[in-house]
Amino acid sequence: MNPKFLAAQKALDYIKSNITLGLGTGSTTEIFIKLLAKRATDYSGLIFVSTSTQTTNFALKLGLTITPFEEVDSIDLTIDGADEVDNKLNGIKGGGGALLFEKIIAKNSKECIWIVDSTKLVDTLGAFPLPIEVIPFGYKSLIKKFETKKLNPKLRLLNGKPFITDSQNYIIDCRIGKIENPLELEPELKLLTGVVEVGLFNNIADKVVVGYTDKTEILERK
Ligand code: 5RP
Repeated sequence: MNPKFLAAQKALDYIKSNITLGLGTGSTTEIFIKLLAKRATDYSGLIFVSTSTQTTNFALKLGLTITPFEEVDSIDLTIDGADEVDNKLNGIKGGGGALLFEKIIAKNSKECIWIVDSTKLVDTLGAFPLPIEVIPFGYKSLIKKFETKKLNPKLRLLNGKPFITDSQNYIIDCRIGKIENPLELEPELKLLTGVVEVGLFNNIADKVVVGYTDKTEILERK
């Protein structure tokens, strides 16, 4: 079986009627949304908020209604993917470029569950390039700062042009190698003027549903 499918399917166990549900971004979340849309009649009173234009469009095509985040009082649960997860359930996100809205929705959710395949589990974060969302104005000066810090930065491109996020920003991907202290690195990077958000998601996931080819495993943050 497809490990992403198994993780997405398992996440359905956490869905109840009458909750506000944050929908993450990425291929694993899209499998989850598809499964959820198929079972829509099993639930009543579900309210969905989205973490990206990509997810909004995907959900709308499946007949789900997306409520603007500004119009909900609170978010009960968010289901999202991740690019890397360490054994403390800290993670790297933003491979799909949606890290800013993903972090806003996650930080405003009572509970966050990530759905990943087992290849995303690592001892130490950093093999996956860390996405950093920056405002376009003066981004080259940030690239120089990241170079000075030996973060191996590279502006993310799409069809030869800068990739533009939902907030009209750029993304700089940093090939850092081992991130020994993600809790220190996140504020250090975030404090640089021009940085909008960092793809380090520390102490955010409450649970991670890991999909293997033949089973799922639930990891819980201690
Ligand atoms: C998007 C993300 C995604 O959650 C992350 O890239 C995982 O994607 P996938 O489920 O396709 O492996 O952070 O910004």
